[in-house]
Amino acid sequence: MNERTTTDAPGIEHRVDPATERRRRDRAAPPGRTAPASDERRRPTTPLRGVLNRVFPEHWSFLLGEIALYSLVMLVVTGVFLAAFFEPSMDEIVYDGSYTPLRGTAMSEAYASTLDISFDVRGGLLVRQMHHWASMLFIASTIMYLLRVFFTGAFRKPRKPKWIVGLLVFWVGLFTSYTGYMMLDDGLSASGLRVLWSITLSVPLVGTWLTSTLFGGEFPGEVIIGRFYILHVLLLPALLLALIAVLIGLRLRHKPAQWLGPGRTNANVVGERLFPPYAVKQVGLFVLVFGVIALLGGLVQVNPVWLFGPSHAAVAASASQPAWYLMFLDGAVRLMPPWEITLPIGDGYAIPPTFWPAVVLPTILVVLPMVYPLLEARMHRDNREHHLLDRPRDVPTRTALGAMAITFYLVLTVFGASDVIAFTFDVSTNAMTWAGRVALLLLPPAAYWITYRICLGLQQHDREVLAHGVETGIIRRLPHGGYMEVLQPLAAPGPDGRTKLPYTGQPVPKKVNHLVTLATRDQGFLTPIDSPARVPATVGQEGDPADAPALRRG
Ligand code: HEM
Repeated sequence: MNERTTTDAPGIEHRVDPATERRRRDRAAPPGRTAPASDERRRPTTPLRGVLNRVFPEHWSFLLGEIALYSLVMLVVTGVFLAAFFEPSMDEIVYDGSYTPLRGTAMSEAYASTLDISFDVRGGLLVRQMHHWASMLFIASTIMYLLRVFFTGAFRKPRKPKWIVGLLVFWVGLFTSYTGYMMLDDGLSASGLRVLWSITLSVPLVGTWLTSTLFGGEFPGEVIIGRFYILHVLLLPALLLALIAVLIGLRLRHKPAQWLGPGRTNANVVGERLFPPYAVKQVGLFVLVFGVIALLGGLVQVNPVWLFGPSHAAVAASASQPAWYLMFLDGAVRLMPPWEITLPIGDGYAIPPTFWPAVVLPTILVVLPMVYPLLEARMHRDNREHHLLDRPRDVPTRTALGAMAITFYLVLTVFGASDVIAFTFDVSTNAMTWAGRVALLLLPPAAYWITYRICLGLQQHDREVLAHGVETGIIRRLPHGGYMEVLQPLAAPGPDGRTKLPYTGQPVPKKVNHLVTLATRDQGFLTPIDSPARVPATVGQEGDPADAPALRRG
């Protein structure tokens, strides 16, 4: 009981609540003493306390961004170790390290130092492989994070800037990873550099100038690895960290979006405080990411550069493939028909076919997702703030567009390995190219249509469950020989015998609760059915199935 009792006159009692009494005392107290006393009681919130008290919703899908962040931390830590031993020079030396098959071979200092890191530096191979796996985890988790944001509509107002910065992190990460690969100057990276040379050369008007500036002359030149090194260890990681800092700032500025659920509204956040529960979990996640990367680095071989040999400008090994996340670009170049458009300028100015898939397509892929939130908001005339996430099924057009984009990307990725597939299955590479072109035209629209229908079907199913109940897996035989499916209603039926539960955008139960499963658990797939299934009382009376409100006849 917080209230106190005070007596004004004999026999009359008033109940005074503590706040009123405190105010009375404050008024009575001299000002010099009131201020400290009131400060002590109110404990004004400091900015730090405000941050520590921030609430974060709990769901595994919110951890994808954090996995990317912790992989980046691992990249910086392992990268600093590698930078101590890596020699970013294209000067030629003769290798005399401990990898005997290449002893006496002429190679660049960059490649030789990579071999030294792999074979002669203590723990070098482990850290190299950890760096490589961390880069893959970083790219994969960034892709998953962006897909989660897209499919749940988390890019809507007020998070449009966050979406754009997230996309920039992805593209900068992709390029950083590419420069890392290319620095090693092995036989594989030589092919990658040659592709970059051809792409920059294909840009109309400035191509030649761009290429010779980048490579410092003819391919491969002597400067590209030094330039990539500065980009890779300094400028791009700094840019990535700055972008991540902006992302974190934006995250603290707007409250986090959350899934719909009991007690969750557009105006609140239900979850855990940053400190201590959320922070402790994050430490756990960081240790897990570290552990996974360390295990992969120690146990699973990646990029065994010693097998590829040193780079030679004139040699491209067969079956050279870029990293999995860049294969879409290779696929696009392979599937592009050899259309050389000649503009009527002077004697005719030819635009090489490579320009379209390797420069125009990536530009569209960068710009289109960035402007998508604006297009969607304009199409729906929606300028409201959204703090609740959509279930993908509830926004079929967006989900179908996403599926279409993923299919487009996957087709290009698969046909980035068209030569390997052709060789493995003994089919003609020409047939592969044509199959890829047809697949690129047909599969994305098909994915759109199928996804759209699946979304509608899932929505319909949710509404059916709300109206009729959850499937119990029990089929009953009726006295007149008919069959009916037993469903567990989610609420008591109304006077008309129907359950009226509106769909609110939350997941609906998919499994029956234990009251019903108890009756059937021991009779089923693995154990013999030795007694007839008992039907729970909620289901209705035997007889005409039309009498049982929660039953669906099928
Ligand atoms: C401060 C940050 C970084 C530093 C100091 C750094 C340093 C290095 C060095 C010295 C190498 C060449 C050594 C070697 O692999 O033998 C390298 C390779 C590489 N880096 Fe980084 N890096 C950093 C960040 C990143 C980031 C952010 C990514 C990806 C998003 C990345 C991806 C790669 C890849 C894929 C390789 C090739 C690995 C291999 O197979 O050997 N690095 N990095």
